[in-house]
Order: sequence, then structure tokens, then C-alpha cells
Amino acid sequence: MPRTEFIATGFHVPARVVTNDDLARIMDTSDEWIVQRSGIKTRHWVSEGETGVSLAFDATRKALAKADLQASDLDCIIFCTCTPDHFEPGNGVFLQCALGLTDIPAVDVRNQCSGFVYGLSIADAWIRTGQYKRVLLVGAEVHSRGLDKTTRGRDVAVLFGDGAGVAILGPTEDSRRGVLSTHLFADGRHAEKLWVDGPGLAHDPFVSHELLDQGFHLPHMEGRDVFKFASTLMPQSVHAALRANGLSIEDIKLLVPHQANLRIIEMVAKGLCLREDQVFANIHKYGNTTAASIPIALDEALDQGRLARGDLVLLTSFGSGFTWASAAIRW
Ligand code: ACO
Repeated sequence: MPRTEFIATGFHVPARVVTNDDLARIMDTSDEWIVQRSGIKTRHWVSEGETGVSLAFDATRKALAKADLQASDLDCIIFCTCTPDHFEPGNGVFLQCALGLTDIPAVDVRNQCSGFVYGLSIADAWIRTGQYKRVLLVGAEVHSRGLDKTTRGRDVAVLFGDGAGVAILGPTEDSRRGVLSTHLFADGRHAEKLWVDGPGLAHDPFVSHELLDQGFHLPHMEGRDVFKFASTLMPQSVHAALRANGLSIEDIKLLVPHQANLRIIEMVAKGLCLREDQVFANIHKYGNTTAASIPIALDEALDQGRLARGDLVLLTSFGSGFTWASAAIRW
């Protein structure tokens, strides 16, 4: 059975940069508070005309160019997002259409910050069994249009950014390389600790002026619980991946964690006793881009020469649900 390799990665963020000082002009916050609590200095937010699909399209074009492939070489799209352009259908078919394709499946994954690793697990299973040979795995988010940008929503609004990251995946016959294993976890008891209640069909009517006035369409987060669970469960998921492959912490060349918060990344690194050079962080530039954060980080890590063929890469994520996941990859 072949393994799954990363053929190419790519990312795209909107041109508009929003600084902490920009946010301090529209809500009661400060650069000092945001940097101290989250490590975030800037994030990119979309401008008129940009959407999650358009960001994904631009990221895909970059990855296709690196791989020297055409869109017509793809045989499946997996689109991970928690901020879809429309209620239905999902972003996958819109991306398929934008790429000029009509005859390949488009799957939508709704696992928030864990979306990319969940999507990788699905792609890996399909590639290993030979069902698809060139899978486009996308994480793309437009958070900025869904945030409460007043002081009421400042705990959440300062954290999130927009962006897209993609990977083109395919089979390799080299049994020493590729995705070694993926590990997926979820605990729905915590679903309402980080969620957007509506519009949703649990409500009748599913949207109303009253519900909108209550802010049911805005993200709600119990930040301290998120912090506590994320910094404990991501290290556990890394240990699960290492154990499954008979590997140890010293074998890790680079951990690419979901970029939720620099303080969480630091706690994860400390919990795993990793050196600074073994952990990748770029949250200071992009904020939390949810499903896009790992592929954006991977692409930047590659660009900076932090990964070479044969290196062991660990991915770990944690997000709303709660869901968390890890992957071990021999690059
Ligand atoms: N600017 C200024 N003050 C703020 C802001 C802000 N943006 N947000 C909250 N505050 C205030 C609060 O109102 C509170 O004021 P009070 O003491 O007068 O009531 C004070 O700061 C402290 O609030 P806490 O919520 O207790 O702050 P805490 O130290 O817990 O930090 C934070 C909040 C940064 C959200 C933290 O809980 C955290 O990092 N949680 C993890 C959240 C996270 O990373 N989420 C990412 C999304 S999920 C994921 O991707 C895994």
C-alpha cells in the first residue's frame, strides 16, 4: 500500500493588514494586552470582493505552480472551513467551479481548528487505498466578517485572522516517507465552550431579529477553558502519534502546531520538552486562522528551509468541539 506524500503546499492571505493599534481604534483594547495574552501583532482581513473561496483559489494556484501541475490533474477536493461563504452548498464545489473543474468530488469538512488534520486523515485513507491520487486539501477561513468588533466581542475579535493554506497530496511508493499516521479526537461535552450558536436549524425560526440582537450569530468563547484544554490535549495527541510509530521527542525535527495563541504554543512546547528550534510559530503575523493555520505554517516553514526530505514533522491541532488531532509525517 502506498503512503501519502505532500507534493506541494501554498498559502494566500488578504493584502489588508490589521494591526493591534488599528483594533484599539474601534474597541477598548491595546497592543500591549493583545501581545501579552496572545503574541499576535497583526492579522490579515479580507476586503470587499474577497471570500474564503477566492483565498483558497489563490493558495491553490500557488501550490499547483510549485508542483508543476494543472488544476485538471486534481481528482478530489477536501475543503476544511468553519466560516463557509454560504449556508449551503459548502465551499468545496465553489472552489471546484473556480478551478474550471466539473467532474471531481468536493468534500466539506467542519472540524474548525482541527479541520486540516481531520481532512488529512481522510485524504490519507483515500490515497492509500487508491481511491484518489491527487487530493487538494484546503483550509481557508474568513473570520473578520463574523466577529463582534466592539468592546463586547474583544476577547475573541483580537485573536482571529483570515487566510487560506493548501496541500496537494498524492501517493509515494517510498515506504519510509509520507504520512505515517493520523490521530483524531473529539469531546462534544465542551461543544458550547467555543461556538457560534446560529443561524442554525435548532432555532425555530432559524434566524430572527431577537436572536440577532442577542448576538447568537457571533462567536462565544470560554477562553480560560480553551486555554487549559488546548495546552493539555495537544501534547497528548503528539505523544499518541510518537507512540504509534515507535518514535520519541528527540526524533521530531519540527512541530507545526495549530496557531491559536502564542501562549498555548509555548505551553505545548514546554509540556513536550521541545527546544525552540523544534517548534514553528507565525501567529504574530496572521493571528488564528483556524483550519488554515497549519497549512500556512507548513508552507512558511518549507519556504524558510526549516524542513528537508527525511525530517520528522508532527502536526497537532485543537479547536471548537472540542476536537483535537495529530499527524506524524516523514517529509
Ligand atoms: N483587550 C483588553 N482587555 C480584554 C480583552 C481585550 N481584547 N479581552 C478581554 N479583556 C479583559 C476582560 O474583559 C477582563 O477584564 P476584567 O478583569 O475587567 O473583567 C480581563 O481582560 C481579563 O480577562 P480574561 O478573560 O480573564 O483574560 P485571560 O487572561 O483569560 O485572557 C484570553 C483571555 C487571551 C482569551 C485567554 O483566555 C486565552 O488565550 N484563551 C485561549 C483562547 C484561544 O486561544 N482561543 C483561540 C481560539 S480556539 C483555538 O483555536 C484553539
